[in-house]
Amino acid sequence: MRAVDIIIKKRRGEALSKEEINFFIDGFVNGSIPDYQASAFLMAVCCNGMDSWETVDLTLAMVNSGEKVDLSRIKGIKADKHSTGGVGDTTTLIVAPLVAACGVLVAKMSGRGLGHTGGTLDKLESIPGFRTNLTMEEFINSVQTAGLAVIGQSKDLVPADKLLYALRDVTGTVDSIPLIASSIMSKKIAAGSDAIVLDVKSGSGAFLQSLDDSFALADAMVKIGVRAGKRIMAVITDMDQPLGMAIGNALEVKEAIEVLKNKQSGPLKEVSLYLAANMLLMAKACTTLEKGLAIAGKALESGKGLAKLGDMIRSQGGLEEVLDNTDLLPKAKHIIPVKTDKDGYVSSIDTREIGICSLLTGAGRSRKEDEIDPAAGLVMQKRVGDKVQKGDTLAVLHTNKSDIIDEVSNLLRNAFHIKPEKPKLRPLVLGTVTKDRIQKFV
Ligand code: URA
Ligand code: CA
Repeated sequence: MRAVDIIIKKRRGEALSKEEINFFIDGFVNGSIPDYQASAFLMAVCCNGMDSWETVDLTLAMVNSGEKVDLSRIKGIKADKHSTGGVGDTTTLIVAPLVAACGVLVAKMSGRGLGHTGGTLDKLESIPGFRTNLTMEEFINSVQTAGLAVIGQSKDLVPADKLLYALRDVTGTVDSIPLIASSIMSKKIAAGSDAIVLDVKSGSGAFLQSLDDSFALADAMVKIGVRAGKRIMAVITDMDQPLGMAIGNALEVKEAIEVLKNKQSGPLKEVSLYLAANMLLMAKACTTLEKGLAIAGKALESGKGLAKLGDMIRSQGGLEEVLDNTDLLPKAKHIIPVKTDKDGYVSSIDTREIGICSLLTGAGRSRKEDEIDPAAGLVMQKRVGDKVQKGDTLAVLHTNKSDIIDEVSNLLRNAFHIKPEKPKLRPLVLGTVTKDRIQKFV
């Protein structure tokens, strides 16, 4: 077999065999296939797509490129969730404790911020002392004793994804359904959980903006999971505006704590409960979604979810007192309201731009090696559909960098589109995809 023939075949739009895909991925990871051929391959996949068999074969070839986590020592069903990436998407910090409080073990492998989106590891590390680089032994112990643990991906897990992702990032081949699906699912399969809920974001703050693409991505990922023997489903949720009000690491931790204290309702709480209920369903802890919603709701109202978050923080070395006193989280020097000069309704929000504003305050990375500032970010004061008057605050910037305030304030103001007429709102949950059914709610 020759790499060039596989590239030509995909360039012509033909389907690749399992042997061809394995040959290409193995060769790329062991260095016998160079970056320039892998780049051409990625571009051919990006332009011509892959059918569901090829996508599954690609994913499994990627899984087999490295080590797999063996969670079999932990008795019972282990559940995991994964978001395709959003802005103000703090759901893991709420959902994982809620599900664990309902008796389902959560063994979660999370990522760092990517592009304009936030990452769970960065958020958790804003809690003083919190460690996400547990050894496998510590991870398994934490899941067994606390009921949940969140760690970063070890370097030996799916090396094919790290190598491919680095090329995709610089060759214009990130937003391809088979490439995103195989990238995410290879990591989920290698991470070893039995039950998986995928949160596929759709809208101006997501990697895929159109609803059709989001459903296609969800369907591709569910098919891969089913072929790998997982209990899996996907929820398609709105990312046409930030999910929570806070964007930035410590700010999002604080908001998650408020939700778990039952002091804040709204979209973040609603989507978190919906995801938690589906995780309980996938883990067979309930028989219907309605029962799952009731159980998860009770875990929130009783404070059991909050207590579980405390268990996780303690078992991963963090300062548990932040739950009682969020002033112990890092705070920014400059806290600056950004006001509107218009009257009307917030008709839409450029959510990607909001994510970039948060990144510019110091909350994210522009380059892989950048340090993030845990205190930085912004807090939204208005959502789509809200009425605004000249002088109203749209959002509040939190930053330690005084030199970015003017520029970011302007970008932020322009990310809010204000019109005279009240816009039509779309539902938070746009649909679900299971093994045998695609349901669209819009
Ligand atoms: N997240 C991933 O892990 N991979 C992608 O390709 C996109 C989002
Ligand atoms: Ca995320």
